[in-house]
Amino acid sequence: ETGRRLLIAGNWKMNGLRASSQALARAIVEGAKALPASVELAVFPPFTLTAEIGALLTDSPVRLGAQDCRSEKSGAFTGDIAAPMLADLGVTHVILGHSERRRYHDETDQIISAKAEAALEAGLVPVLCIGETAEERDSGRAYETLSNQIARGVPAGFRGVIAYEPVWAIGTGRTASSDDIAQTTAHIRDSLAAHLQTGDNLPPILYGGSVTARDAASILAIETVGGVLVGGASLKADSFLAIAQGA
Ligand code: G3P
Repeated sequence: ETGRRLLIAGNWKMNGLRASSQALARAIVEGAKALPASVELAVFPPFTLTAEIGALLTDSPVRLGAQDCRSEKSGAFTGDIAAPMLADLGVTHVILGHSERRRYHDETDQIISAKAEAALEAGLVPVLCIGETAEERDSGRAYETLSNQIARGVPAGFRGVIAYEPVWAIGTGRTASSDDIAQTTAHIRDSLAAHLQTGDNLPPILYGGSVTARDAASILAIETVGGVLVGGASLKADSFLAIAQGA
Protein backbone atom coordinates (compact mmCIF):
# COMPACT_ATOMS: atom_id res chain seq x y z
CA GLU A 1 0.00 0.00 0.00
CA THR A 2 1.34 3.38 -1.02
CA GLY A 3 -0.43 5.40 1.62
CA ARG A 4 -3.14 6.34 -0.85
CA ARG A 5 -6.45 7.34 0.65
CA LEU A 6 -9.45 5.82 -1.07
CA LEU A 7 -12.93 7.31 -1.28
CA ILE A 8 -15.84 4.90 -1.53
CA ALA A 9 -18.82 7.00 -2.56
CA GLY A 10 -22.42 5.79 -2.74
CA ASN A 11 -24.66 7.67 -5.17
CA TRP A 12 -28.20 6.75 -4.16
CA LYS A 13 -29.63 8.63 -7.17
CA MET A 14 -33.45 9.05 -7.00
CA ASN A 15 -33.95 6.16 -4.60
CA GLY A 16 -35.07 5.80 -1.04
CA LEU A 17 -37.88 6.69 1.29
CA ARG A 18 -37.20 7.67 4.87
CA ALA A 19 -37.38 4.42 6.81
CA SER A 20 -35.35 2.20 4.53
CA SER A 21 -32.78 4.94 3.92
CA GLN A 22 -32.28 5.47 7.63
CA ALA A 23 -31.71 1.75 8.08
CA LEU A 24 -29.21 1.79 5.21
CA ALA A 25 -27.31 4.75 6.70
CA ARG A 26 -27.25 3.16 10.16
CA ALA A 27 -25.83 -0.08 8.78
CA ILE A 28 -23.16 1.82 6.84
CA VAL A 29 -22.15 3.80 9.95
CA GLU A 30 -21.87 0.53 11.87
CA GLY A 31 -19.85 -1.20 9.14
CA ALA A 32 -17.54 1.80 8.73
CA LYS A 33 -16.12 1.12 12.18
CA ALA A 34 -14.27 -1.92 10.88
CA LEU A 35 -12.56 -0.02 8.04
CA PRO A 36 -9.00 1.34 8.11
CA ALA A 37 -8.60 5.11 8.38
CA SER A 38 -7.24 5.18 4.82
CA VAL A 39 -10.71 4.32 3.51
CA GLU A 40 -13.29 7.10 3.53
CA LEU A 41 -16.97 6.45 2.96
CA ALA A 42 -19.46 8.99 1.65
CA VAL A 43 -23.16 8.65 0.89
CA PHE A 44 -25.13 10.85 -1.51
CA PRO A 45 -28.83 10.62 -0.65
CA PRO A 46 -31.52 12.54 -2.54
CA PHE A 47 -32.18 16.08 -1.23
CA THR A 48 -35.31 15.02 0.63
CA LEU A 49 -33.15 12.92 2.94
CA THR A 50 -30.07 15.13 3.27
CA ALA A 51 -30.91 16.52 6.71
CA GLU A 52 -32.06 13.32 8.34
CA ILE A 53 -29.30 11.14 6.95
CA GLY A 54 -26.91 13.90 7.98
CA ALA A 55 -28.19 13.65 11.54
CA LEU A 56 -27.49 9.91 11.54
CA LEU A 57 -23.94 10.49 10.30
CA THR A 58 -23.05 13.02 12.99
CA ASP A 59 -20.05 11.77 14.99
CA SER A 60 -19.35 9.10 12.38
CA PRO A 61 -16.53 9.24 9.81
CA VAL A 62 -19.05 8.67 6.98
CA ARG A 63 -19.30 11.80 4.85
CA LEU A 64 -22.54 13.37 3.67
CA GLY A 65 -22.88 14.20 -0.01
CA ALA A 66 -25.46 15.70 -2.36
CA GLN A 67 -26.16 14.90 -6.01
CA ASP A 68 -26.18 18.39 -7.52
CA CYS A 69 -26.24 22.08 -6.76
CA ARG A 70 -26.90 25.26 -8.70
CA SER A 71 -24.17 27.77 -9.41
CA GLU A 72 -26.00 30.82 -8.00
CA LYS A 73 -25.95 31.30 -4.23
CA SER A 74 -29.66 32.12 -3.90
CA GLY A 75 -32.47 33.69 -5.86
CA ALA A 76 -35.47 33.07 -8.07
CA PHE A 77 -34.64 29.52 -9.19
CA THR A 78 -37.70 27.47 -8.29
CA GLY A 79 -36.92 23.89 -7.45
CA ASP A 80 -33.14 24.32 -7.30
CA ILE A 81 -30.69 23.94 -4.41
CA ALA A 82 -27.68 26.19 -3.80
CA ALA A 83 -24.27 25.09 -2.51
CA PRO A 84 -24.43 27.16 0.72
CA MET A 85 -27.73 25.42 1.58
CA LEU A 86 -25.93 22.09 1.39
CA ALA A 87 -22.96 23.27 3.45
CA ASP A 88 -25.45 24.52 6.02
CA LEU A 89 -26.69 20.92 6.48
CA GLY A 90 -23.24 19.46 6.99
CA VAL A 91 -22.81 18.29 3.42
CA THR A 92 -19.12 17.98 2.51
CA HIS A 93 -19.23 16.56 -1.04
CA VAL A 94 -21.41 17.25 -4.07
CA ILE A 95 -21.64 15.25 -7.28
CA LEU A 96 -21.64 17.53 -10.33
CA GLY A 97 -22.08 16.83 -14.01
CA HIS A 98 -23.27 13.26 -13.61
CA SER A 99 -24.11 11.82 -17.03
CA GLU A 100 -27.76 11.61 -15.95
CA ARG A 101 -27.74 15.38 -15.29
CA ARG A 102 -25.97 16.01 -18.59
CA ARG A 103 -28.56 13.88 -20.35
CA TYR A 104 -31.85 14.70 -18.62
CA HIS A 105 -31.10 18.31 -17.67
CA ASP A 106 -28.94 19.28 -20.64
CA GLU A 107 -26.05 20.26 -18.41
CA THR A 108 -23.09 21.51 -20.41
CA ASP A 109 -19.44 21.60 -19.38
CA GLN A 110 -19.80 25.36 -18.89
CA ILE A 111 -22.70 24.90 -16.47
CA ILE A 112 -20.79 22.20 -14.62
CA SER A 113 -17.70 24.39 -14.32
CA ALA A 114 -19.77 27.20 -12.78
CA LYS A 115 -21.35 24.75 -10.35
CA ALA A 116 -17.92 23.48 -9.35
CA GLU A 117 -16.77 27.01 -8.60
CA ALA A 118 -19.87 27.61 -6.49
CA ALA A 119 -19.34 24.36 -4.59
CA LEU A 120 -15.72 25.20 -3.85
CA GLU A 121 -16.68 28.67 -2.71
CA ALA A 122 -19.18 27.12 -0.28
CA GLY A 123 -16.45 24.85 1.09
CA LEU A 124 -17.74 21.68 -0.57
CA VAL A 125 -15.68 19.06 -2.39
CA PRO A 126 -17.06 18.75 -5.94
CA VAL A 127 -17.10 15.21 -7.33
CA LEU A 128 -17.07 16.22 -10.98
CA CYS A 129 -18.14 13.46 -13.36
CA ILE A 130 -16.80 12.89 -16.85
CA GLY A 131 -17.19 9.96 -19.21
CA GLU A 132 -17.54 8.96 -22.83
CA THR A 133 -20.61 7.40 -24.44
CA ALA A 134 -20.49 4.02 -26.19
CA GLU A 135 -20.63 5.81 -29.52
CA GLU A 136 -17.69 8.05 -28.68
CA ARG A 137 -15.73 5.05 -27.50
CA ASP A 138 -16.55 2.90 -30.52
CA SER A 139 -15.51 5.67 -32.89
CA GLY A 140 -12.15 6.07 -31.13
CA ARG A 141 -13.01 9.43 -29.58
CA ALA A 142 -13.06 8.49 -25.89
CA TYR A 143 -9.84 10.29 -24.90
CA GLU A 144 -10.74 13.35 -26.92
CA THR A 145 -14.14 13.50 -25.24
CA LEU A 146 -12.60 13.23 -21.78
CA SER A 147 -9.96 15.87 -22.52
CA ASN A 148 -12.65 18.23 -23.79
CA GLN A 149 -14.83 17.66 -20.73
CA ILE A 150 -11.80 18.48 -18.57
CA ALA A 151 -10.74 21.53 -20.58
CA ARG A 152 -14.25 23.01 -20.59
CA GLY A 153 -15.77 21.67 -17.37
CA VAL A 154 -13.00 21.78 -14.77
CA PRO A 155 -12.43 25.33 -13.50
CA ALA A 156 -8.91 26.70 -13.01
CA GLY A 157 -7.52 25.95 -9.57
CA PHE A 158 -9.96 23.06 -9.14
CA ARG A 159 -9.54 21.33 -5.78
CA GLY A 160 -11.95 18.44 -5.80
CA VAL A 161 -12.43 14.94 -7.07
CA ILE A 162 -12.94 13.70 -10.64
CA ALA A 163 -15.20 10.71 -11.24
CA TYR A 164 -14.57 8.79 -14.45
CA GLU A 165 -17.88 7.19 -15.34
CA PRO A 166 -18.01 5.73 -18.84
CA VAL A 167 -21.66 6.22 -19.81
CA TRP A 168 -21.87 2.71 -21.31
CA ALA A 169 -20.89 1.21 -17.95
CA ILE A 170 -23.47 3.02 -15.81
CA GLY A 171 -26.29 0.78 -14.64
CA THR A 172 -25.53 -1.74 -17.37
CA GLY A 173 -23.69 -4.40 -15.39
CA ARG A 174 -20.83 -3.85 -17.84
CA THR A 175 -17.83 -2.71 -15.79
CA ALA A 176 -14.83 -1.38 -17.69
CA SER A 177 -11.87 -3.77 -17.52
CA SER A 178 -9.04 -3.02 -15.10
CA ASP A 179 -6.68 -2.43 -18.03
CA ASP A 180 -9.12 0.02 -19.54
CA ILE A 181 -9.58 1.84 -16.25
CA ALA A 182 -5.81 1.99 -15.67
CA GLN A 183 -5.13 3.43 -19.12
CA THR A 184 -8.03 5.84 -19.15
CA THR A 185 -7.42 7.19 -15.64
CA ALA A 186 -3.74 7.70 -16.59
CA HIS A 187 -4.93 9.71 -19.61
CA ILE A 188 -7.30 11.69 -17.39
CA ARG A 189 -4.48 12.44 -14.97
CA ASP A 190 -2.27 13.72 -17.79
CA SER A 191 -5.11 15.78 -19.13
CA LEU A 192 -5.77 17.28 -15.68
CA ALA A 193 -2.08 18.05 -15.20
CA ALA A 194 -1.96 19.87 -18.54
CA HIS A 195 -5.20 21.73 -17.92
CA LEU A 196 -4.49 22.70 -14.30
CA GLN A 197 -0.84 23.32 -15.13
CA THR A 198 0.47 21.38 -12.18
CA GLY A 199 1.95 17.98 -11.54
CA ASP A 200 1.27 17.86 -7.82
CA ASN A 201 -1.83 17.58 -5.78
CA LEU A 202 -3.86 16.55 -8.77
CA PRO A 203 -7.50 15.72 -8.01
CA PRO A 204 -8.04 12.06 -7.10
CA ILE A 205 -9.86 10.12 -9.83
CA LEU A 206 -12.71 7.79 -8.92
CA TYR A 207 -14.05 5.10 -11.23
CA GLY A 208 -17.82 4.63 -11.53
CA GLY A 209 -19.94 2.27 -13.61
CA SER A 210 -21.44 -1.02 -12.43
CA VAL A 211 -18.93 -1.42 -9.59
CA THR A 212 -19.69 -4.44 -7.42
CA ALA A 213 -17.82 -6.19 -4.62
CA ARG A 214 -16.59 -8.69 -7.17
CA ASP A 215 -14.42 -6.25 -9.10
CA ALA A 216 -13.87 -3.50 -6.50
CA ALA A 217 -10.57 -4.82 -5.13
CA SER A 218 -8.92 -5.01 -8.55
CA ILE A 219 -10.19 -1.55 -9.52
CA LEU A 220 -9.06 -0.02 -6.23
CA ALA A 221 -5.61 -1.58 -6.64
CA ILE A 222 -4.97 0.56 -9.73
CA GLU A 223 -2.47 3.25 -8.84
CA THR A 224 -4.27 6.07 -10.67
CA VAL A 225 -7.63 5.25 -9.05
CA GLY A 226 -8.51 7.16 -5.90
CA GLY A 227 -11.76 5.37 -5.14
CA VAL A 228 -15.07 4.37 -6.63
CA LEU A 229 -18.44 6.01 -7.20
CA VAL A 230 -21.06 3.33 -6.75
CA GLY A 231 -24.69 3.48 -7.85
CA GLY A 232 -26.83 0.35 -7.62
CA ALA A 233 -24.54 -1.55 -5.27
CA SER A 234 -24.55 1.35 -2.78
CA LEU A 235 -28.25 0.82 -2.02
CA LYS A 236 -27.54 -2.26 0.07
CA ALA A 237 -25.29 -1.89 3.09
CA ASP A 238 -23.76 -5.34 2.61
CA SER A 239 -22.66 -4.78 -0.95
CA PHE A 240 -21.50 -1.20 -0.30
CA LEU A 241 -19.42 -2.29 2.69
CA ALA A 242 -18.03 -5.26 0.79
CA ILE A 243 -16.78 -2.82 -1.86
CA ALA A 244 -15.12 -0.75 0.86
CA GLN A 245 -13.53 -3.87 2.30
CA GLY A 246 -11.88 -4.44 -1.06
CA ALA A 247 -9.92 -1.23 -0.58
O1 G3P B 1 -22.68 7.68 -9.95
C1 G3P B 1 -22.61 6.30 -9.91
C2 G3P B 1 -23.13 5.66 -11.09
O2 G3P B 1 -23.49 6.41 -12.17
C3 G3P B 1 -22.81 4.25 -11.35
O3 G3P B 1 -24.02 3.60 -11.24
O4 G3P B 1 -25.45 1.69 -10.83
O5 G3P B 1 -23.63 1.56 -12.55
O6 G3P B 1 -23.03 1.60 -10.13
P1 G3P B 1 -24.05 2.00 -11.20
